[in-house]
Amino acid sequence: MDRILVEGGLSLSGEIPISGAKNACLALMPAALLTQAPLTLTNAPFLSDINTMRELLASLGCEVASLQNNRIIAIAAESISNHVAEYDIVRKMRASILVLGPLLAREKKAVVSLPGGCAIGARPVDIHLNALEAMGAKLELKEGYIFAEAKKGLKAVDYTFSTVSVGATANIVMAASLADGSSVLRNCALEPEIQDLCDCLNGMGAKVKGGGTSIIEIEGVSELSGHTHSVIADRIELGTYMLAPAIAGGEIFLRGGRIELIESFAKILRETGAEVISSEDGILVKGSKNGIAPVNISTQPFPGFPTDLQAQMMALLTLSKGISTLNENIFENRFMHAPELNRMGAKIFVDGGTATVEGVNALKGAPVMATDLRASISLILAGLAAQGQTILTRVYHLDRGYENVCSKLSNCGADITRIST
Ligand code: UD1
Repeated sequence: MDRILVEGGLSLSGEIPISGAKNACLALMPAALLTQAPLTLTNAPFLSDINTMRELLASLGCEVASLQNNRIIAIAAESISNHVAEYDIVRKMRASILVLGPLLAREKKAVVSLPGGCAIGARPVDIHLNALEAMGAKLELKEGYIFAEAKKGLKAVDYTFSTVSVGATANIVMAASLADGSSVLRNCALEPEIQDLCDCLNGMGAKVKGGGTSIIEIEGVSELSGHTHSVIADRIELGTYMLAPAIAGGEIFLRGGRIELIESFAKILRETGAEVISSEDGILVKGSKNGIAPVNISTQPFPGFPTDLQAQMMALLTLSKGISTLNENIFENRFMHAPELNRMGAKIFVDGGTATVEGVNALKGAPVMATDLRASISLILAGLAAQGQTILTRVYHLDRGYENVCSKLSNCGADITRIST
């Protein structure tokens, strides 16, 4: 298994290009199922999760092609030859559930494996299913699969999501685009990735209003067409690398980063003492010269502080001059990085959904294990600032959501190497 070695203690300087957003791309790719014509996505990130979605779409009969070093993905769902999203693919990635809405809308039937729980929590899909039932789908759960059918096609709905869910909003917006009549979806996720999906759907000929707000109105159309869409920048990759100079010292320019994607995070980062300067081309972050100030954070759906940046922010706060608290409100088991950070000398105390971080003067490099995607990068951030060597194992978690981590950071002066075995 591959490992990543980080020799800590070097101040950083340079530029990191921000890739296209994993989570946007994972919602955009299934939109290709809604039309017989090709959907082309530019600015796509090259990640194992994206490959899993490619594999899933190909298994349903889509032609999937890559151009320009995988930056461009073209998907043609001219005919859908298989309606079963198999467990073997779905179990690798929960976002696989996003094929359910589009398949049902176009083909009137779908069989999708239940994704099950994952390391960070139970993560049910009841909200997706409930909304599809409200649109007239008949659902049956058996042998670990969702058997879904809408013999007369999906019908429009006025529906209020019981909880803000990014995935359920994406699934139902796609389904409603081809449904019979006009839908109103309330309590929708406000995440920029949803807005990006709505923009793409409109480019394909859908009639979606209000993407990126809590009420989305969709006038169903009978068919959609092909389109070329550029995937938005990855705000989680952006926030992650904004933390690199904050924890290791120095300054990094994040090319392509857009401050409006990450306001709540940038506000907190500034409170810790880092300088954040936004321009048209990106964001410059300078590490604090007077130490890291403690802060209190509470994860929330967008535009609040993202749960996907909680682990990375915790790494920074381990070196703050005081006590910080982090409340995790989205997932019930998302502090698995805390014991690993403690192995590097951090002082983190977890009690239910709250972690208290008592800042220490220095971290020490150690062998650590990645437990999930965002936890793994938090350990690399800690390794950049630690004295000595950090060895990260289970780096396949990292490959799901960060491309070229080692080269992006070593181009800024970090001593980081991947050892392939
Ligand atoms: C998406 C992101 C993930 C991010 C999360 C929250 C993708 C591919 N993934 O995940 O990186 O951490 O948003 O910002 O975009 N819930 C239910 N029932 C459901 C659906 C969700 O109870 O049917 C709960 C979840 O367990 C969680 C909360 O709702 O506690 C929010 O989850 P949701 O927004 O759906 O997350 P994902 O779309 O899975």
